[in-house]
Amino acid sequence: MQTQVVIVGGGPSGLLLSQLLHVRGIDSIVLERKTKDYVLGRIRAGVLEQGLLGLMAEAGVDARMKAEGLRHDGTLISYGDETFRIDFAKLTGTPVMVYGQTEVTRDLYAAREAADGVIEFNVENVAIHGADTDTPSVTYEVGGDARRIDCDFVAGCDGFHGVSRQTIPLDLRTEYEKVYPFGWLGILSETPPVSHELIYANSERGFALCSMRNDNLSRYYIQCSMSDRPKDWTDEAFWQELKRRIPRDRAEQLVTGPSIEKSIAPLRSFVTEPMRWGRLFLCGDAAHIVPPTGAKGLNTAASDVHYLYTGLRQFYETGNSEGIDSYSDRALARVWKAERFSWWFSSLMHRYPDQSPFDLRMQQAELAFLRSNAAAQQAMAENYVGLPY
Ligand code: FAD
Ligand code: DHB
Repeated sequence: MQTQVVIVGGGPSGLLLSQLLHVRGIDSIVLERKTKDYVLGRIRAGVLEQGLLGLMAEAGVDARMKAEGLRHDGTLISYGDETFRIDFAKLTGTPVMVYGQTEVTRDLYAAREAADGVIEFNVENVAIHGADTDTPSVTYEVGGDARRIDCDFVAGCDGFHGVSRQTIPLDLRTEYEKVYPFGWLGILSETPPVSHELIYANSERGFALCSMRNDNLSRYYIQCSMSDRPKDWTDEAFWQELKRRIPRDRAEQLVTGPSIEKSIAPLRSFVTEPMRWGRLFLCGDAAHIVPPTGAKGLNTAASDVHYLYTGLRQFYETGNSEGIDSYSDRALARVWKAERFSWWFSSLMHRYPDQSPFDLRMQQAELAFLRSNAAAQQAMAENYVGLPY
């Protein structure tokens, strides 16, 4: 087989890139290790920046998001029983959109299928060959059948545990990592959200987040121990703990119900440099991970897709390789800023096992400063709604 771009990974990065390239007449084949249902069953991101919304529009997949997404003009931050609001609309003129990653992915699959795009599911043993030559290829197996695709470029959109990053020789990449000493336990429940806007809560029992997917679907998270497993937490224990971490008036209003999904995510900051080796480009979680505080993971994956798509388009339309040559530098410049914001917001909101009384006072002082200082709120808001591409 032959195509212009092989895309390894059928998560949001890979599908978005494939659909954007398709709109510009550039062919791709997407290789996904799991089934479509498995990918759609992973409950992850919920908050989308304008940059991603713009890419969805350009890809022609924004109709349902525009109709069903929830526009949020601000967010609430609480500590103990105190709450304050960061007004994105007033500070930046830009809202964010609450629309689940599963819905983005569903819309992208529908668009790829409508355009007869090729997505191979259940692929095994994907291997990338000749990435540092002008004639790369990708081999894989489906149901024991060995296949090979010759291509111009390979996009590694296969997430943190994928094969693409590992294909780049160790002596050519540098990895930066910070593992946080806690996780997030998340549940989805068919209950009305406790607040119209998200609540990021710092409490003496640890962090909590109140989010949503729609008017009758709530998403809540609590900081948990790294050794906890979802089955250790009954729904009742989860609700009790959440109530103890959010302001009392909210806890009294909280509507509880059975969870329809429960999972634990570890928290990690990770970046690999560079994000390109020859004709192989890394995109999204394949190249970097942020802790989820601040909702930057999917949005940063989207900015990578923007830079890569722009570079590939320039190459195919004009023969100029400037965009693909500068891909890694341009993507990483924005990635590191998202890393900084996610690290800062995580540090501000969580309880750390080795936190000293001094460290706690620093958190409190920083929260008080953010509450009262317009410049601090401006910086927070600009980062939360997304820095320009
Ligand atoms: P992935 O979604 O990981 O997709 C990679 C795909 O590649 C997968 O489908 C995988 O099956 C496939 N794959 C892997 N290996 C191979 C292989 N060898 N061959 C073929 N296919 C392979 N981000 C936000 O922006 N906002 C949020 O609110 C937010 N909340 C989050 C909450 C949680 C609990 C978690 C866990 C994450 C959250 N994120 C959030 C992060 C966001 O979900 C990720 O950044 C996003 O999924 C990255 O997309 P991706 O396509 O790069 O990678
Ligand atoms: C959600 C996840 C996040 O990490 C975040 O910062 C905001 C919202 C969510 O899943 O809704």
